Order: sequence, then C-alpha cells, then structure tokens
Amino acid sequence: MRSLLISDKAIETIEPGARLLRGFAGGEAAELVEEVARIATLAPFRQMVTPGGFRMSVAMTNCGGLGWITDRKGYRYEPRDPDSGAAWPDMPTRFRALADRAAEAAGFAGFAPDSCLINRYVHGARMSPHQDRDEKDFAAPIVSVSLGLPATFLWGGSKRGDRPKRFRLESGDVVVWGGDARLNFHGVDTLAQGDGTCRYNLTFRKAK
Ligand code: SIN
Ligand code: FE2
Repeated sequence: MRSLLISDKAIETIEPGARLLRGFAGGEAAELVEEVARIATLAPFRQMVTPGGFRMSVAMTNCGGLGWITDRKGYRYEPRDPDSGAAWPDMPTRFRALADRAAEAAGFAGFAPDSCLINRYVHGARMSPHQDRDEKDFAAPIVSVSLGLPATFLWGGSKRGDRPKRFRLESGDVVVWGGDARLNFHGVDTLAQGDGTCRYNLTFRKAK
C-alpha cells in the first residue's frame, strides 16, 4: 500500500484535522490527467453561474454518483449533468483508490466518496474562500488533489474574516481536511501563467 511507503516527513499538519501530503499522487499524475480528459469528453467542463449571478472563472465537471453544481437556484448536488441530462460519468477506480489512500494516510480511514468535483483553472482563474458545506454530513473529510500548474492554496479559519495561510500546491500534492477543520474556509489565489496550460483539482466528497 502506497500510504505505508510514504514517509511521515511528507505529511505536513496544517492544523489538527488538516494535512498536506506532498507528492502523494505524483507517481500517477499523468494517468489521472488522462482520466480527466476522458471524463470531459462525456461531461465537458463548463463555467457555472453562482446564485448571485456571477460566472465562475473556474470551469467544472464531475464524476461519481453525485456532482456539485451551481446555478441561479443555488449550490447543490445532482445525480445528473444538467447540460446533457445524463448521469455523471462513473468515478474511475484509480480516483477512488487514491482518495481512499490519501484519506487513510491523513488519519481518516474508511472514506467512501460518492462525488468528485473536477476544477479546471486557466491563467487568471481563482476560487474565492468558501466552506464546503453542501454535503449531508460533515463526518467525512474532503480530499483535494492538485494536477498540472502550481497554485497558491489559501487556508483560512472557521470564520470568513480569518486571515488565510498560503501554501504552494504542486502537481501531485494532496490536501485532506476533516474533523475540527472540516468547515474551514479555503480558496485558491489567481492562477499565474506557467509551464503548461492549466491546473486541475480533484475534490472528493461524501455528499450523501
Ligand atoms: C475547491 O475548494 O473546490 C477547490 C480547491 C482547489 O482547487 O485546490
Ligand atoms: Fe472547496
């Protein structure tokens, strides 16, 4: 099991419940990106609109039994892609296995994600600080995998106004947060131009 091979030094504690696993997915980044491309042929990336009417700079798609969406009616999980009416593509075995291993390595054994939101950031895209709170219960952690261009992750506190810590996330880095940190604010600073076209982020959740 890969989680047993990773040295403790590679696991950084951001705060109780939040861990950064540097390079955890590095060995399979290319295969993960291939899966993203395949999913995007079935459920293309799209820039969704917030309930307030703003178009997000990040383009999104999903795989798994449920997908996170936003439109003028609100934020929620849906079993179908609203653009096509079809079920979201299945979660690849490789995705599920990685999410389970990362959760376990971070101290959350038995994670059973039913949803994977896939974010695509191009130069200039950002995600403002928010809480992940559309899931039914907050007992399960969030597992977040970075692929492609590096980004600055903003890790805030339990209140919107708390000044965020900044972490550089490289391709293959995984952040896991749960427990007391499950509802912390987090976001991504404006993506800088780099050696590549975009950054992908896989965010695994147990939505139901
Ligand atoms: C998210 O909070 O959904 C995205 C985080 C990231 O892109 O690293
Ligand atoms: Fe989030």
